[in-house]
Amino acid sequence: MEIIIVDTEAQASHLGAKIVAQQLMKKPDSVLGLATGSTPLALYNQLIGLYTQKQIDFSRTTSFNLDEYVGLAPSHPSSYNSYMWKNFFNHINIRPHRIHLPDGLAPDIAEHCRQYEGAIKAAGGIDLQVLGIGADGHIGFNEPTSSLASRTRIKTLTLQTRHDNAPNFDLNEQVPHHVITMGVGTILESRICLMLAFGTSKAQAIRDMVEGPISSSVPASALQMHPHTIVIVDETAASALSRRDYYRWVYDNKPKWQQYE
Ligand code: F6R
Repeated sequence: MEIIIVDTEAQASHLGAKIVAQQLMKKPDSVLGLATGSTPLALYNQLIGLYTQKQIDFSRTTSFNLDEYVGLAPSHPSSYNSYMWKNFFNHINIRPHRIHLPDGLAPDIAEHCRQYEGAIKAAGGIDLQVLGIGADGHIGFNEPTSSLASRTRIKTLTLQTRHDNAPNFDLNEQVPHHVITMGVGTILESRICLMLAFGTSKAQAIRDMVEGPISSSVPASALQMHPHTIVIVDETAASALSRRDYYRWVYDNKPKWQQYE
């Protein structure tokens, strides 16, 4: 894992966007894995900016989102489908037929999940997966004790995650209990994983993921087995890491050919 500690969320998002942009320049028909939530919002804004300045092009890009709430129509304002269109897809030139999100209304969820896995495979696999992390160490919606070999499937959210996500729902509306999520095993097959995390609420999860034992109690810790994971954190999210100085030193002394900027 490459751990990059920067001062602010804005710097982290700027660097994250640069890494995604480099991927698209190198391979314009890249397959991107995308996350929702508050973490990638500034990253998506940066990418929209680069697209507007004609520095990147999404016309050949394919996307697969990590997860979706079961029971919400794609058009529901709190669905991840709506989130993606509002915050990203409406502002870039990605072709709609290359956009994939799990369908929260799929009548046969198990079959839908199998097809989702098949579509990722048919697209050639995910080149770069954008990730956030839950305060409980989840990636996608693989909550603690998820199998580290899991594939796309239905999961039940923890109380904490439902609480954390409640601000995205109307006051009189319940956060769904169930979600469809790519599995940890699905995520681990992405060629590059790019995780961003900000704020003290993520500090313990980041420490457990990077420096703790690999354990299904912290699904993100499975990324320790991934050959190319980049983690960009602000100072507060990095605050519980015991080897902070070492990670800074490694990043500051990267050979020029390996640098992102
Ligand atoms: C969302 C997702 C989740 C979030 C995580 C952090 O698609 O897969 O794992 O990345 O819950 O959420 P935020 O960014 O809102 O703190």
